[in-house]
Amino acid sequence: MGNGTFITFEGPDGAGKTTIIKMVAEHLNNVLVTREPGGIDIAEQIRRVILAKENTAMDPRTEALLYAAARRQHLIERVKPALAEGKVVLCDRFVDSSLAYQGYARGVGMDEVFTINQFAIEDMMPKLTIYFDIEPELGLKRINNNKGREINRLDLENLAFHHKVREGYHILLEWFPDRMVKIDASGTLDEVFQTTLKLVKAKLKTP
Ligand code: TMP
Repeated sequence: MGNGTFITFEGPDGAGKTTIIKMVAEHLNNVLVTREPGGIDIAEQIRRVILAKENTAMDPRTEALLYAAARRQHLIERVKPALAEGKVVLCDRFVDSSLAYQGYARGVGMDEVFTINQFAIEDMMPKLTIYFDIEPELGLKRINNNKGREINRLDLENLAFHHKVREGYHILLEWFPDRMVKIDASGTLDEVFQTTLKLVKAKLKTP
C-alpha cells in the first residue's frame, strides 16, 4: 500500500461529509481528496449510470456490482498511486457505503455485498473510517436547503430507506470497532470539523 494513509468518510446523505473533508484537507500536508463513486473518468461514467433518475429499473445487485466496479477503477487509478507516493488519501465514501446502502437498505445482504467488494478491493481497507451520524430527517432537510447540490436517484428514496441506511451503518460500527469511529454530525459545522480533525491527526500519529 506504500507509506500513505487511507482514510474514508461515511454517513447518510446530508451529513456534511463533503464540506468537512475539504476543511480537514486544508489542515494537512501531502493530501489527496477524492470521492466515490467517481473521481476519475471511467468511475464518473459508471456513477452517472447508477445515479441517473431515469434508471428506476435497476436491479439492486446490478447497483451493487456497478458501485464495486467504479470502486475498483478508482482504487487502481487514483487511491493506490497516491498511497504509494506517501499521501494521506481522504475518500468521501468507500466499501461501507455499499454495505449500508445496497447490502442492508436495499436488502442484497451485507455479507454478499462484502464478498463482491473483496474481489474489487482485494485487501485494501482504510486505516480509519469516520462515520457521520445524523437523523435522516435532518440530513434530508440539509440536502433540500443546499440548492447547489445535485439531487440523485438515491436522494429520491423515501425516508424509510434512509432510516435503513443509518441502521446499516450502526451494524457496521459493531462489525468494525477498530476501524470505524462515529461522530455526531448534528452539531455545528465547526464542532463536527474540530472533532474530525482531531481524530484524523491522532490516527496519522499512530504507526
Ligand atoms: P454522494 O451523494 O455522497 O456523492 O453519493 C452518491 C449516492 O450514492 C449516495 O446516495 C450514496 C450512494 N452510494 C451507494 O449507495 N453505494 C455506494 O457504494 C456508494 C459509494 C454510494
